[in-house]
Amino acid sequence: MTDAPGISRPADPVQPTDPAAPYVQVRGLSHEFDLSEGLISRLTTGGTPRVLRAVNDVSFDIRQGETFALVGESGSGKSTIARILAGLLAARAGEIRIDGHAMAANRPRPAALRTAIQMVFQDPFASLNPRWRVDRLIAEPIRDMPAPARIERVHELLRLVGLDPLDSAKFPHQFSGGQRQRIAIARSLAANAPFLVCDEPTSALDVSVQAQILNLMRTLQGQLGLTYLFISHNLAVVRYMATDVGVLYLGRLVEVAPADRIFTSPRHPYTRMLLEAVPGTGLPRAEVRGEVPSPITPPSGCTFHPRCPLAEDICRSKVPEFRDGVACHVAHRAATAAA
Ligand SMILES: Nc1ncnc2c1ncn2[C@@H]1O[C@H](COP(=O)(O)OP(=O)(O)O)[C@@H](O)[C@H]1O
Ligand SMILES: [Mg+2]
Repeated sequence: MTDAPGISRPADPVQPTDPAAPYVQVRGLSHEFDLSEGLISRLTTGGTPRVLRAVNDVSFDIRQGETFALVGESGSGKSTIARILAGLLAARAGEIRIDGHAMAANRPRPAALRTAIQMVFQDPFASLNPRWRVDRLIAEPIRDMPAPARIERVHELLRLVGLDPLDSAKFPHQFSGGQRQRIAIARSLAANAPFLVCDEPTSALDVSVQAQILNLMRTLQGQLGLTYLFISHNLAVVRYMATDVGVLYLGRLVEVAPADRIFTSPRHPYTRMLLEAVPGTGLPRAEVRGEVPSPITPPSGCTFHPRCPLAEDICRSKVPEFRDGVACHVAHRAATAAA
């Protein structure tokens, strides 16, 4: 990876131990929210514990400099996975390896990784303190750097994201939504973080602005060799950004495949249903059918079976294992028959 002009690398970058290993490895990640913890809910439910399984045995890899996209309807667990990877939430179970550092997903991050992973959120207004000027906002991850170098770095970052160094004295409300997201991206890059977790980073923006921010993110990825976990419910956006795609349904990965493959030949009926709802895939067009069931009382067997056009008896009784990139009884049988 070569440095972009004007971009200073940190003095002690986190070095990968095995250059051939994926940059990010997630294994068996699971998380539950205990809904009976609060007094009010305990009174209203009569004390019975209620558990919401938001993430269920999720595993995937991200290679350095590439983009793994997570897609799925609202409530499928995308943000929970993002927050766990960014170190904002301790998972109940699972293992994560980032840049050669292995950690249990329920333990705090090693210090070497704390600035290496940064998160870009959907709403740049909510993620930027309205009372801080841009220079202070962007310099937050490098606040210990001496002033002249820090100021120079802020100017460099502003130019990198297509803003003007003169913008550093302004407040967030003086910018448009797209410009605010540029500021948030600049902040995430301040300490040379090599891995960005981006949770719906353009979903709050106008379509024309969305394209500019996505272009910026791709340019930065090429210049700086960034690795992205990219979350979006918008498949057109995912198609533009992703190297690989993971499809989530009620906390489980139901299909993982290279982006070019998943858009032309989806294997899971849920992936197909999501793709049929977007134009330009070559698949027949159809609306997304049915609704996501409650994750507190998920359906038996394959949790997608009540909405699945191909569901059989086995789908109602047995949870399909995730094998060869897909978790679907019918897809597994088709693969066996073809072999
Ligand atoms: N702090 C929380 N407490 C309880 N339930 C939560 C919390 N955060 C998320 N959930 C639930 O976990 C599930 C997954 O949520 P989330 O990860 O935000 O999904 P997505 O980002 O795909 O929309 C949802 O059913 C959501 O209601
Ligand atoms: Mg979300």
